[in-house]
Amino acid sequence: MAEHRLLTGKVVIATHNQGKLREMRELLAPYGIELVSAGELGLPEPAEDGMMFSENAAIKAVAATKASGLPALSDDSGICIDALDGAPGLFSANWAGPGKDFAPAIARVQMELAKRGALAPDQRRAHFVSALVIAWPDGHQELFEGRVFGTVAERPRGPAGFGYDPIFQPDGHERTFGEMSNEEKHGTDWGTRDGALSHRARAFAELAAACLRKPA
Ligand code: IMP
Repeated sequence: MAEHRLLTGKVVIATHNQGKLREMRELLAPYGIELVSAGELGLPEPAEDGMMFSENAAIKAVAATKASGLPALSDDSGICIDALDGAPGLFSANWAGPGKDFAPAIARVQMELAKRGALAPDQRRAHFVSALVIAWPDGHQELFEGRVFGTVAERPRGPAGFGYDPIFQPDGHERTFGEMSNEEKHGTDWGTRDGALSHRARAFAELAAACLRKPA
């Protein structure tokens, strides 16, 4: 079995996405780690030209650890819609354009689904993916992934969350992520594998089991 390394001390969160940053801070809060974001350190955003979520997560974590000399944790994530052959997937952020406006991205999802006649819930299956990478200055890396399956709602619902949250209704729930508080989106017992709900919380539960310890 691969050896895991404990994550302690000061850590860079290698993201400039405020929605992700807030969630990652919440998910890491119980573990007594000092967090600083890539934005706070003025680190540039590297080009994300990988072919997989895990590759893009590694690109971001490695760039941040090299620039800061600290361990860095990144998340690469997106929504994959079955009827759109997995789109927007790796390009979830790009669909929002340079202004990072998700109203047009959501409208595009709905238009593409309508073009394909995908109107019934079972034709609108989708999942979110989160790939988390921790990179250390000496080259050690750890990767953890989480997924959550559900459907694309007929129309956006709820003001909460970020990105595609208002159109994603996770299986077993009546509400979209946009209608849930952050805590509900993380899951009822989100520090654990069974209790985590969102893709990110599920990836964090894996990370926590391998690399994090709660302070005594
Ligand atoms: P990236 O990982 O920086 O390439 O961006 C991922 C994009 O996927 C975000 O900008 C969001 O559009 C979308 N995304 C990832 N996770 C979530 C989530 O938890 N809720 C809603 N949208 C998400």
